[in-house]
Amino acid sequence: MRGPARHPMRRRWRAAGVVMALALGGWAAGGARAAIELLDPLTDEPLALDKRPDQTTTPAVEEFLETGKNPYAGDEAAIAAGKKLYARWCQACHLADGSGRIGPRLNDDQWKYPRVATDQGKFEIIYAGGAGAMQAFGDRLDHDEILELVAFLDTLAKP
Ligand code: HEC
Repeated sequence: MRGPARHPMRRRWRAAGVVMALALGGWAAGGARAAIELLDPLTDEPLALDKRPDQTTTPAVEEFLETGKNPYAGDEAAIAAGKKLYARWCQACHLADGSGRIGPRLNDDQWKYPRVATDQGKFEIIYAGGAGAMQAFGDRLDHDEILELVAFLDTLAKP
């Protein structure tokens, strides 16, 4: 007789172990996809990335959504692309050097929105907009382009 292994209680425990392993595996997989929670700058409510659903999610965007850090920080090609986007979409209000006109100064470390000091906060305000003239750009720019812009903004900031 093999004894303990065939005991019905043990079988039940083994089954419970399998269920637990599956549940933990599912949790870990889900966690890897949505590690950061983006917030709306004005309301602090969770921000859905539902604008321009047809866009391609690049590896940089995937990494950003996991870590909250901009993988393009310091990347010269991304900064050059961000500079072009800034000239087209942003500098009428913030000026080429970020010294500010209709929009506030972006080339120091003083932020109206404390979260804007971080990569994630910059992404949030560009994607979702702020008050008044600071519109949401999420319906015109891809997530990847927003990361390029954030990399460029870092080159303006001179605390
Ligand atoms: C039509 C004018 C206008 C344009 C265009 C514009 N902004 Fe703004 N921006 C503003 C205003 C006004 C504010 C202040 C918003 C507020 O107080 O909520 C602001 C706020 C910001 C802030 C937050 C500053 C802080 O101190 O917290 C950032 C970052 C920013 N803008 C970046 C951008 C970028 C990047 C673009 C281009 C994609 C852009 N803006 C385009 C007017 C503009």
